[in-house]
Amino acid sequence: MQSTGIGYGKTILFGEHFVVYGLPAIASAISDHTIATVEKAGPGTGITLIDNRPEIRGYKETKKGEIAREIEALSKHFKLDERKSPLKITLSGGLECASGIGASAALASSIARAIGQHFSLNLTNEQVNEAAYAAETAGSGTPSGIDNTCSTYGCMLVFEKNMQGGSNKIELLAVKKPLDIVLASTGITQETKGVVDEVRAQKENDPKKFDAIFSEYRKVLDEAVPALKNGDKRKVGALMDRNQELLRKINVSCPEIEKIIAIARSNGALGAKLTGTGRGGLVICLAENKAAQERIAKALEKAGYGARKTSLGGE
Ligand code: MEV
Repeated sequence: MQSTGIGYGKTILFGEHFVVYGLPAIASAISDHTIATVEKAGPGTGITLIDNRPEIRGYKETKKGEIAREIEALSKHFKLDERKSPLKITLSGGLECASGIGASAALASSIARAIGQHFSLNLTNEQVNEAAYAAETAGSGTPSGIDNTCSTYGCMLVFEKNMQGGSNKIELLAVKKPLDIVLASTGITQETKGVVDEVRAQKENDPKKFDAIFSEYRKVLDEAVPALKNGDKRKVGALMDRNQELLRKINVSCPEIEKIIAIARSNGALGAKLTGTGRGGLVICLAENKAAQERIAKALEKAGYGARKTSLGGE
């Protein structure tokens, strides 16, 4: 018998990197998702992974170690006896693996759900999320937990990490009007851990600079929540630009990201910023409406970038 589980892709609208230090961030699931199936395998085979997920070139090879550590952590989390119960895990679904889309979190939450079903564990979302967080930690070091939370709950939310180690704060965010966005790909795969570690080192070197950036970011966030709730797209776009400016200051942007932002802006985007780890990965561009979304995506594709159209908050 086959058991299945689903894990959503995500995009961060506000607060990547800052969220690691306990500042609130806003992220949304996207409709693209990963599907995991788990089934009994032949004796002596342990855990076998068949990874059929679509990817941008080189993603799976670059993330090989991270993926293996995630599977191992899930096996440990659920105390699987791989000799007694060998498993075949197959990954599929339409979520194209790329940096910034939450692919590793979607892997973790989909497999956690499928394992739960396979062993009739009746897991709650909270338990799936816990397992996915354990996997993300093994895979990439010190994640805030925003990716796995989004991937598990599948909606838009404000996330605040509990720096004392207790439960994180999660507030579901209902937006008045769905946001039409373009997720543009630089084609560069980044290792989250390396970039997060480097930002931490910068912060330790210059805490005053970071204090100033954090307090500026708080203002952005405080305005972003009502702007999203009220459907004030122009305001949301302007705040995304301000957030990008702060991300530049902590050196997580790169020339490809800036090129994409420039193309999106000159084709009418209301705002654009990197989303996720940065130094490559994806750029989120906010469009005024579907026609603008189409125009932005076409211009980016013409310039050689991958561009995925989707809408947030209304799926
Ligand atoms: C990665 O999608 C987002 C980061 O803020 C890391 C994290 O929150 O774990 C860069």
